[in-house]
Amino acid sequence: MYYSDDVVQEVRSRNDIVDVISSYVKLQRKGSSYFGLCPFHNEKSPSFSVSPAKQMYYCFGCGAGGNVFTFIMEYENYTFPEAIKMLADRAGISLPQQEYSEEARRQRDLKSAVLDINKTAAKYYYYILHSGQGELGMRYLKDRKLSDDTIRHFGLGYAGQYSDALYRYMKKQGISDQLLKESGLFQVSEKRGMYDKFWNRVMFPIMDVNNKVIGFGGRVMGDAKPKYLNSPETVIFDKSRNLYGLNFARTAKKNYLLVCEGYMDVISLHQAGFTNAVASLGTALTSQHASLLKRYTDEVILTYDSDEAGVRAALRAVPILKEAGISTRVLHMEPYKDPDEFIKALGTEAFQERIDHAENSFLFELSVMQKSYDMKDPDSKTRFFQAVAAKIAEFELEIERENYIEAVTGRFGISFEGLRRMVMNVLMQGVPVRKEPVRPQAKTEKDDGIRKSQRLILTWLSEYPKLFPEISAYIAPEDFSDELYREVASMLYEQLEKGELNPARIINHFTDADEQRTVAQLFNTAIPIENPKEQEKAIAETVRKVMDYGIKQRTRRLDPSDIRGLQELIEAKRKLEELDRLHISL
Ligand code: UTP
Ligand code: MN
Repeated sequence: MYYSDDVVQEVRSRNDIVDVISSYVKLQRKGSSYFGLCPFHNEKSPSFSVSPAKQMYYCFGCGAGGNVFTFIMEYENYTFPEAIKMLADRAGISLPQQEYSEEARRQRDLKSAVLDINKTAAKYYYYILHSGQGELGMRYLKDRKLSDDTIRHFGLGYAGQYSDALYRYMKKQGISDQLLKESGLFQVSEKRGMYDKFWNRVMFPIMDVNNKVIGFGGRVMGDAKPKYLNSPETVIFDKSRNLYGLNFARTAKKNYLLVCEGYMDVISLHQAGFTNAVASLGTALTSQHASLLKRYTDEVILTYDSDEAGVRAALRAVPILKEAGISTRVLHMEPYKDPDEFIKALGTEAFQERIDHAENSFLFELSVMQKSYDMKDPDSKTRFFQAVAAKIAEFELEIERENYIEAVTGRFGISFEGLRRMVMNVLMQGVPVRKEPVRPQAKTEKDDGIRKSQRLILTWLSEYPKLFPEISAYIAPEDFSDELYREVASMLYEQLEKGELNPARIINHFTDADEQRTVAQLFNTAIPIENPKEQEKAIAETVRKVMDYGIKQRTRRLDPSDIRGLQELIEAKRKLEELDRLHISL
């Protein structure tokens, strides 16, 4: 934080969130909140909510959320200092000068300098591609059937034959070696000094969602290795948090995104009209990628390469996406290797057809699993169906299980009743017949349930502070599962103890936008509750779950020589038992 907490709170409290957001989004009052169309993703019916009481916004569609600073930062693409400056001006507050810490200013300056270098490099490569020196590169791109429009749209460029052309260009602009080094676009050797990382390659600028160039991929024009060189991670480039093409795909009006492997896949898909394609660029899909995707969509179609590596990558991606709340289908590319080849060979319509027939990810997992069984051998076949039954038994809802039993029946030729009985057997034994290592998922599902309960507790506390004495008698901040949850809980408890509830203030303790979003979610978790009786039940049940989890967690962490900890634990367990008598209503 560059400004003192007091200044930040002053600016925040003088900018009512409903006022501020109203000048960007048309809001309508509904109960105690305001609703409108979310400015951070495409939607037709309003799921973007603004709470005057909490001074926070939250989108139930895409999970965007935060306080008035977060909103301005996300909407205007401002840094925190820029946002606070704007809001201070808006409220007629003059900010104290020079409150940047030395380190904070250095980081900010460094980031913007490295962004500038990347932008300059992108322009330079683009210029070279279109100059006489770029002929080879241009021919290569044309051979790959890229149109002029596509080349311009993606800002493709060319690093020519000299291995220090970009370096000399940058030096002419007076940029220091130190800064150039930070950009990752140059290398240093004792013999040669500093020189370009990329030459003799066609260049693919990588942009973040705000169209800022944060790095490059460079492809050789022949079969030399490595095929692609990429910018290393820098202060602005984090591979696990960026997806190639998302800057365009985010505004494609489709309710799913295509996720593929490479630069060329994205580019040919966009050229063919599938502007909702992105790529994770050679790295495995991470949970940060998944939460980034979740901001824009609920459904992903994996269009990975059809080779073994692609199948493996898909199997790994499915549970990661599922954990982020994204449902996944898998597209069959056979007999072609990747989307680029497919489109060139069969064209747009055929690809659309494959999208329409993309396979449910669960059935895809089963198909892959089936390959390790000999379906002509009765024993092996039985084992396969037992494994299938065990996987189906992992679904919590009966209706889910039935639907999958039905789908599997049609697909793998087993009778509905037969498979249903096998699933029942698994459920009754309580242990899966035979666990397949295809997806390590059951655990995260449980964890997700407990996190949701914890979020509910925090949301209720922030909405109904009068619950605090009762809830805090049973649940302590240490009972929450994640570091972040615990931190938020202890700040909230502190506020509630002082009678100074102020959730929006808590958000400002977190500087990372992802964290701010998560915190906003903690205060905006809702379950539809019909009547007071059910409400009471839901609260008691949730308190019990969170408490139970907290006790287990404490037990695991307990040092056996810690007598006091042990006593507290026994006390907690006793309270858990008396919980049946708890009646709290909202
Ligand atoms: P592919 O080998 O499938 O490349 O790698 P591609 O995108 O289909 O490219 P073309 O069509 O052969 O030109 C998929 C992605 O993996 C990363 C790149 O991001 C690439 O787009 N990769 C691949 C590398 O970073 N380095 C490599 O040497 C190869
Ligand atoms: Mn490929």
